[in-house]
Amino acid sequence: MRTAVAPATLPYEWYVDPAVLRLEQERIFGRFWQYVGHVGRLSEPGAFTTARAGELPILIVRGRDDELRAFVNVCRHRGFLLCEGDGRRETIQCPYHAWTYDLDGSLRSAPRADSEPGFDRKGISLAQVAVDTWGPFVFVNPDVHADPLRDYLGSLPELLAAAGIDVETLRFHLRAESEPYACNWKVCAENFLECYHCAIAHPSLARAIDVSPSAYELETDGFVSTQVGPPRNGGDGVYDATGPIARGQFHFLFPSTAINVMPGQANLSIGPMIPTGAETTVRFLDYFVGADTDDAWLADFLYLDERVGAEDRVLVERVQRGIRGGGLEGSLLLPDSEQLIAHFQALVAEALSSDGP
Ligand code: FES
Ligand SMILES: [Fe+2]
Repeated sequence: MRTAVAPATLPYEWYVDPAVLRLEQERIFGRFWQYVGHVGRLSEPGAFTTARAGELPILIVRGRDDELRAFVNVCRHRGFLLCEGDGRRETIQCPYHAWTYDLDGSLRSAPRADSEPGFDRKGISLAQVAVDTWGPFVFVNPDVHADPLRDYLGSLPELLAAAGIDVETLRFHLRAESEPYACNWKVCAENFLECYHCAIAHPSLARAIDVSPSAYELETDGFVSTQVGPPRNGGDGVYDATGPIARGQFHFLFPSTAINVMPGQANLSIGPMIPTGAETTVRFLDYFVGADTDDAWLADFLYLDERVGAEDRVLVERVQRGIRGGGLEGSLLLPDSEQLIAHFQALVAEALSSDGP
């Protein structure tokens, strides 16, 4: 039975309907900056890596002129997905009919092209998308006319610097890729954006960080949403949360990039939530550490982080199973404890209603 009064939150249909995802692809993932990987994967000319901007496949390449460029990772001929994984190339050759592109995206050769007078390869090139970096972090934006990444990051660089994180000196540690989540990407985002559930669902995390409303701070600034939590004493098998990083910081850069800094030794994890369908999402997290971060500390910290991730998977997949049947219109949010979700939903609604530039 549907409720008589529509809640002032996003309709649950938006978490299920493929037509909404198509609109999100165009107006959200097609227009905003998204984290795709760390610059260490692209350190020399010819190095490439692949990623996704929402559902759009992306290829990022370091050119012979040392410039980073990003393209739609799709052959202009017949739509073949050009590259997979990462590596190093002199040229980008499509495995289907061997059209070969230069590292700047221009089509260099196509078999038989010269003997077919009706075909002109000049002017054909891979579709370019915007790419930019912040420290070791690489972001793309399918909208080549978007504002620079720096403007979009707002206060985020200062917030991290104030927390004691120097992004320039961070060292890449590992990428953790998880199995697909059986939920809409916005369910993952909203679960990230509140710690109302932490005391109940993450008992170990709640021993490392003070998640009580009096200690745990929430803040929004443009496209950045921030949660800050001081450390607790740890113990009981939880990693040591004391150290130069005095407080945990959990940032969310709209629409889909999560950035975590736990209290203790220097650490940062960053990664996107990527829709692979209206009701499936993939995630990865790139973990970075400081030069002095201790191996034993890191192992304890990663153990906790993995446990928290597994606990969150159960939550988000169960929300999707709850909402997909359509019995209710939308959620009911706590105005203070869940204010970051309200902010996120407002940004989603605004982006979807905008025809764009
Ligand atoms: S689809 Fe790429 S060469 Fe034909
Ligand atoms: Fe959680």
